Amino acid sequence: MPVKILMVCLGNICRSPLAEGILASKLPKEKFFVDSAGTGSWHIGHSPDKRSIATAQKNGLNITNQKGRQFSRTDFDTFDYIFVMDNSNYRDVIHLAQNETHKNKVQLILNSIFPDENVDVPDPYYGATNGFDSVYQMLDEACEIIAKKLISDHSE
Ligand code: 4NP
Repeated sequence: MPVKILMVCLGNICRSPLAEGILASKLPKEKFFVDSAGTGSWHIGHSPDKRSIATAQKNGLNITNQKGRQFSRTDFDTFDYIFVMDNSNYRDVIHLAQNETHKNKVQLILNSIFPDENVDVPDPYYGATNGFDSVYQMLDEACEIIAKKLISDHSE
């Protein structure tokens, strides 16, 4: 059984598709499965935002095959780790948790770089295109740390 990691944002078209693509690129596919979801329902079935696709492409990643979906309670059982992009996602996901085991799976992604600081990945949806570059850089740095830890924690 692979270790399963879920990336969560609001729309599942800007930040979490990038986080999914970046983390998946740093982990061996045989052992790890990475997915993403949004807390909102507006973009179910949609491709990632064009600006996320372009930013991923500039960095050698293809995220065009991803399709938006909404986070659901069953994800707490399916996934081993749930990384949320901001404090609002954190509240929305924790609100759906039914026990401490579920809650303990949820962490803010940038706490991997800045432990306990609860820093948000800013939502680039309404902003300038260069917002996507800075989001990419922070997600890449976080995913580098997360991938190393996952690989070391799940080596036998
Ligand atoms: P994301 O950005 O949470 O990074 O995917 C958003 C995309 C769409 C919307 C909000 C945030 N929206 O309201 O449609």
